[in-house]
Amino acid sequence: MGFQPTKAIHMLLVVCAAASSIIDCNEGFGTYYYDIEQVDSCGTTFRNQNKGGLMCSPAVLLSLDQINTNSVVAMNRTQLGFNPSLYCGKRVVVSVNGQPSDLQLFIGDGCERCSVGSSSSNIWDAQSAPGLDFSYSVLDHLSGGNACNAGHIAISWEILDEKLYEFDESSLGLPFVDQPMLSNAVAVEPSVKCSEPSETPTDIFIRANAT
Ligand SMILES: *[C@@H]1O[C@H](CO)[C@@H](O)[C@H](O)[C@H]1NC(C)=O
Repeated sequence: MGFQPTKAIHMLLVVCAAASSIIDCNEGFGTYYYDIEQVDSCGTTFRNQNKGGLMCSPAVLLSLDQINTNSVVAMNRTQLGFNPSLYCGKRVVVSVNGQPSDLQLFIGDGCERCSVGSSSSNIWDAQSAPGLDFSYSVLDHLSGGNACNAGHIAISWEILDEKLYEFDESSLGLPFVDQPMLSNAVAVEPSVKCSEPSETPTDIFIRANAT
């Protein structure tokens, strides 16, 4: 009875680059859906969008107006829904043409379009394309003032294990505990391939958690 069938339960986890502080990364498209400062922009108004409740705050239904910042980022809502405590409030570093932006952005909401279709698709589709959804101001900054014209831009991003915003823990319906990244990493898509835009050009490595 000493036989351990561990070989059969190998779970391959991709860890983005070598930095253990990276929870997830991918590339895709950035769009905008709200703005609490430039409420009327691009021939539209964000008044109703700004009243929308954030997915990271379901119980108290904190709206974008109430959180009062343009730094909220919406990600793949399926992925967020699987593990809100892993992602909510965490910093996102967004790169355009491989250049990381220094904007302080954090995960706060779910994006429907970002959850449909293949996570590795590089074809823009307004209904299904991987990516993130931002405030108009942030997309305008990232696109060099071209958000209105472009509507969407190609981006890559990294979600870091660094909390920029503390959502009401009780509203997540989950205990907000700090866990080592690898205990949660099964939620990370194994197909994601991340290249580190800055100093450490290390390869992705694959780790098996069975011994
Ligand atoms: C969204 O996340 C889910 C769960 O991780 C994943 O299966 C799906 O491929 C993702 N979709 C996109 C477009 O990234």
